[in-house]
Amino acid sequence: MNIMIINGPNLDMLGMRQPEIYGKEDYDDLCYKIDEWANDYDISVDVRQSNYEGEIVEFLHEAFEDDFDGVIINPAAYTHYSYAIRDALLILNVPVVEVHLTDISKRDEFRRHSVISDICAKTIMGKGFEGYKEALEFFFNLL
Ligand code: DQA
Repeated sequence: MNIMIINGPNLDMLGMRQPEIYGKEDYDDLCYKIDEWANDYDISVDVRQSNYEGEIVEFLHEAFEDDFDGVIINPAAYTHYSYAIRDALLILNVPVVEVHLTDISKRDEFRRHSVISDICAKTIMGKGFEGYKEALEFFFNLL
């Protein structure tokens, strides 16, 4: 099973970016943990990060064209307003799991709405890095 994991803008700055909100572990720590969990679940992962909306759209086109079995996405701030990412997700015929490190339902007003949640198989929020583990577990349970 091949899963594409996409992380949006500013997630590459984890550890330095508002550590009181996002924690002290950095993006490499996240990627390391994802690899370990994926290994435990025997899932092959392609983990990507971009600060550009169009590049994220192109990652999703690749996920479609290369027949990935699912996508895990944390679109970061794009979550709240990117119809381009929503439209690209709608091209996929495989499950998509939305992950947020923080509980966006309890933060600023503008973060409370996700323009992708209604088209995702599952949304996991407020669990920090462990949210990605739960997302991988979702795909493992489909096997
Ligand atoms: C985030 C929440 C978003 O509101 C924010 O813009 C992010 C990260 C999260 O993982 O909690 O960059 O998606």
